[in-house]
Amino acid sequence: MLSLPWRTVALGLIVLQVWFCVQVECFPALFDRVTQLPGQPKVGFQQYSGYVTVDEKKQRALFYYFAEAEVDPASKPLVLWLNGGPGCSSLGVGAFSENGPFRPSGEVLVKNQYSWNREANILYLEAPIGVGFSYSTDVSSYEAVNDKITARDNLVFLQNWFLKFPQYRNRSLFISGESYAGHYIPQLAELMLQFNKKDKLFNLKGIALGNPVLEFATDFNSRAEFFWSHGLISDSTYKMFTISCNYSRYVSEYNRGTVSPICSRVMSQVSTETSRFVDKYDVTLDVCISSVLSQSKVLTPQQVGETIDVCVEDETVNYLNRQDVQKALHARLVGVHKWAVCSNVLDYEPLDLEIPTITIVGGLVKAGIPVMVYSGDQDSVIPLTGSRTLVNRLAKELGLKTTVPYRVWFGGQQVGGWTQVYGNILSFATIRGASHEAPFSQPERSLVLFKAFLEGRPLPEAF
Ligand SMILES: *[C@@H]1O[C@H](CO)[C@@H](O)[C@H](O)[C@H]1NC(C)=O
Ligand SMILES: *[C@@H]1O[C@H](CO)[C@@H](O)[C@H](O)[C@H]1NC(C)=O
Repeated sequence: MLSLPWRTVALGLIVLQVWFCVQVECFPALFDRVTQLPGQPKVGFQQYSGYVTVDEKKQRALFYYFAEAEVDPASKPLVLWLNGGPGCSSLGVGAFSENGPFRPSGEVLVKNQYSWNREANILYLEAPIGVGFSYSTDVSSYEAVNDKITARDNLVFLQNWFLKFPQYRNRSLFISGESYAGHYIPQLAELMLQFNKKDKLFNLKGIALGNPVLEFATDFNSRAEFFWSHGLISDSTYKMFTISCNYSRYVSEYNRGTVSPICSRVMSQVSTETSRFVDKYDVTLDVCISSVLSQSKVLTPQQVGETIDVCVEDETVNYLNRQDVQKALHARLVGVHKWAVCSNVLDYEPLDLEIPTITIVGGLVKAGIPVMVYSGDQDSVIPLTGSRTLVNRLAKELGLKTTVPYRVWFGGQQVGGWTQVYGNILSFATIRGASHEAPFSQPERSLVLFKAFLEGRPLPEAF
């Protein structure tokens, strides 16, 4: 037994050491390493999660979850994954429902055999502030958040994250994500290239955008034809939805608080016919009845062969709201009572939706950054047809010739989708049978696509 003064001195030294480490963030492994998530199967890779401050003054901090590659992480690239919304969580949607190592199922986590950390070290970021566990102690920070603020915070996040993980500083870096990340990612990549002119910090090697919003009108107006061709609306409603009031006009009016009587009538007819019992993010997938009716009992349809849990989002909400899970993740709830899939506190500038980011994508391609746009082909929210038109149009504008003509690609022995490549740098691909959240509904095909993207190769031409 140490005598009291010695114990005090020893304790003092430990406190000093910890204080010093917090100041310089010297042992990320010590503070952010996740030893074990509740209900998690045994795995051979490391996980980290915690906060990175992006603004000391306003105490704004972004939450991340980092899954190192399953095998040989030192030789694999770093991939930043961003979900859209704006305001939805990359942790809950990306990591725990799509391409992360685990999916919640009841009390436990089940290993995702097609996790993207088989190919890369994946960093999931909850952004902007107010999303998931990311917070600001000054709630006025949640007002009027926009694309500019988000891109800048994301850049600062990565800069500071590299202080915690210096071994990843010079690593090949890719950014991938979906939906509204069609705004976040090109805008962040553009900032990185600007930053690199002064200090070559970001070794950016490519971006992949899944069902992305790239040009508001083209993307949103492809919805009508998608609904119509999939039998969700009648011939006469299709006509109204294209001639009397198209979807971009409706959204534009809605976001300005002035929906015209004609648009109101058209949208009401469209909603009646499409029905709320069809998931717009995958028109062939059954909805999770509990989500729609807000009832707690989960109804999982049984499918032959593959079983897809369409209620996985509910499972994630339950899982991430467990106190033991939050503790294991080093997460805190600041200013909110519950972790939510999409933020209830964030007030995001709705008109930024109309900023075209396809032009930024063009700039990135010109700067030599490979870009892949991929589409889950069952999604009616950002349908493949709009994305395909935009990529094709961009290739023409940039004078890029087709290097891989439109053809099928294979995942296993089946057709995984279609692809076309322009100038060996800009590519488009569909993922057959996939939803807006492609890796959720077609995990195996999505992993094939992800691997080809990282390797800078066209998708497999044969099996
Ligand atoms: C970063 O990587 C490049 C090659 O991609 C290499 O030339 C350079 O020496 C590396 N820098 C550091 C600090 O490791
Ligand atoms: C959608 O409606 C707007 C406003 O009426 C119009 O300017 C635009 O051309 C329409 N787009 C399509 C694809 O029909």
